[in-house]
Amino acid sequence: MFKKPQLFILLIVATCSNYLVQAQQMVTIPIETAKNSLVLQTDKDNRLGIVHFGKKLIKTADNAIIAQEFRYNDSNAGIYNSPYTPSGTWSLVEPAIQITHADGNNSLELKYVSHQTVKIDDNVTQTNILLKDPAYPVEVTLCYKVYAKENVIEQWSLIKHQEKKNILMQKYASANMYFSADNYVLHHYHGGWGEEMKPEETLLTAGIKTLDSKLGTRANLFQPPTFMLSFDRQATEDEGKVMLGTLAWSGNFKIDFEMDSYHNLRVLAGINPHASEYSLAPNQEFKTPSFISTFSENGKGEASRNMHNWARKYRILDGEGSRLTLLNNWEATYFDFDEQKLTGLFKDGKKLGVDLFLLDDGWFANKYPRNGDVAGLGDWQENRKKLPNGIGYLMKEATKAGIKFGIWVEPEMVNPKSELYEQHKDWVIREPERPEHYFRNQLPLDLSNPEVQDFVFGVLDNLFTKNPDLAFIKWDCNAVTYNAHSMYLLKQGLPQTHLYVEYVKGLYKVLERIRAKFPKVPMMLCSGGGGRVDYEALKYFTEFWLSDNTDPLERVFIQWENSYFYPAIAHCNHITDWSKVGLKYRTDVAMMGKMGYDIVVSQLTEKELKFSQKALENYKRINPVIWKGDLYRLQNPWDKPFASLVFSNENQDHAVMFNYLTTNRFDTGYNPTPIKLKGLSPNKKYSVKEINLFPGTTSSLKSDLVYSGDYLMNIGINPELSGRRSSVILELNEVK
Ligand code: DGJ
Repeated sequence: MFKKPQLFILLIVATCSNYLVQAQQMVTIPIETAKNSLVLQTDKDNRLGIVHFGKKLIKTADNAIIAQEFRYNDSNAGIYNSPYTPSGTWSLVEPAIQITHADGNNSLELKYVSHQTVKIDDNVTQTNILLKDPAYPVEVTLCYKVYAKENVIEQWSLIKHQEKKNILMQKYASANMYFSADNYVLHHYHGGWGEEMKPEETLLTAGIKTLDSKLGTRANLFQPPTFMLSFDRQATEDEGKVMLGTLAWSGNFKIDFEMDSYHNLRVLAGINPHASEYSLAPNQEFKTPSFISTFSENGKGEASRNMHNWARKYRILDGEGSRLTLLNNWEATYFDFDEQKLTGLFKDGKKLGVDLFLLDDGWFANKYPRNGDVAGLGDWQENRKKLPNGIGYLMKEATKAGIKFGIWVEPEMVNPKSELYEQHKDWVIREPERPEHYFRNQLPLDLSNPEVQDFVFGVLDNLFTKNPDLAFIKWDCNAVTYNAHSMYLLKQGLPQTHLYVEYVKGLYKVLERIRAKFPKVPMMLCSGGGGRVDYEALKYFTEFWLSDNTDPLERVFIQWENSYFYPAIAHCNHITDWSKVGLKYRTDVAMMGKMGYDIVVSQLTEKELKFSQKALENYKRINPVIWKGDLYRLQNPWDKPFASLVFSNENQDHAVMFNYLTTNRFDTGYNPTPIKLKGLSPNKKYSVKEINLFPGTTSSLKSDLVYSGDYLMNIGINPELSGRRSSVILELNEVK
């Protein structure tokens, strides 16, 4: 992304060790992945600026030659391109950090002091850059962790001071980036319950475009902190410059896209400063959440594969491991079950062929039984009427039936109709002087309070201690945070504006403790659907629930958009009865991730049961490709009424292609032209076989042909989608 190349020879060579630099010397700091680089450089006033972002520059590191690529007058340089823009001095643009000093002064200047790069291993390095205010003892360390092979940069900031009293931080972003391009196209998301991840595409214009959440606990309900930014023109799957970005924070966020008067773009991402002024004590270090990004010159497909590779290897709990298929009782029973019904379902699950039975909401509370969503949350004792013999008995029965057992919890929440609420009103987030306002008849507990953290940890700890064979947890979180007020912070004399931040930190402390004691148990992150997923939470969870919406005609789109950011191994997809679409289509769509069932197995016809059993067998065979392979999106369902995707393994000798008609308009064939595959080896030969055929149907494709990878990628194959063949899965195997 060069505009006006100018060369500078540096007075010192900025290799990677600790520097203390005198004024006037320019320092260049390259942050480099295998393909890309972000280059920072000091100016004559020793302020740090971003001077390059994009394709890796040749010899940036050793020769320290840099290019000035942004559009502005030299007199303005440094005002716009700061990697952490302070407020109250020379910069009048959107700041990354805004503070009030202990003496009431509002100004902040940040000058370069030193930097250090540490090699963590052959692939990962971390560069820390220390900036200080020359007039006040305030410092910011910018941290850039680079995952070279995956082309991912994780960045965060550490803020600290040695003033006599606390400073007040009004804004404390995680990332402050700077780009230069002809145009910027932002792909972002909005939605709500059952309609998560609806994409929006916007050509950014002068001014500020903000993505944010002020919802607290279920922060991503209306939009996630996740976006794609194309440079010059809208990137496609295989072409164009594009950055994928996401904030790893399970709470309020704010991401600003500010186009400056020179048509350069500033992007600021971090915790939402809304109602969150933070009072920082001397020598206390404030660590912002991580902002995670990847850049590609070759379109969204490569960028998303970068993200998947990184997430599986470095972030998602057990990201390169295995997953359990399951039968969940939620849509089959809702709150209406007893021991007999459940033990019957265990047998059904076994008959179906899944690994685990997941008992959902409704198993707990006695004084105010959890027979609906109006009561019981917080009282985590087995309901004696429904489960007189407790969870232990259910676990034994499940083992007898030959199936593992998992359970649902929503430990951060309380119904006012509960014993917990009666005993610990002070643990609840509520305004003591105002009427309570509910979301799904419930309120969040105050996780800034260490006693509440102990309680929430205790819910899980008790379950595991009493039932060591418990094999799975579904962790739900259904309410947003209204009336954000904490009795704990009040009693501690701490500002209420800490609540949103301390809540999330408290949640992470609990999850940290759970993982220290129970490192491996798979846990699903759920938030009344996909209301909460992010890459900090996924350190503790093996998978997440994308949406309560399991209608495959809509789900294809939800999964499609999620697939840019999160690998299939983390997508929990369940086959449910929420749809008029046939069982085959529902099953095929669920297979593109971690498959589960939420149906009444006993109501399946003989053919449906046989189909499902065979589908589970197929899934066991192909899931390594889906969970660990590379994903290539072949046809975007927003552009044409069908979706087509292929997963291919590392050796490119096994691939699975999914094709779905996304409309009911066509009775006969829709797509007359073949679909070109990707991710195969041109020189290899492949057999192509249709799988997951419904009993009694046959494939219209010839199964005895052998194709070259070259043919499949340049001419393609026609899955022959039609109203009668609305979902087609093709399995490709190398023929030797
Ligand atoms: C919301 C979740 O998204 C559902 O799957 C289910 O677990 C219910 N909560 C239970 O209350």
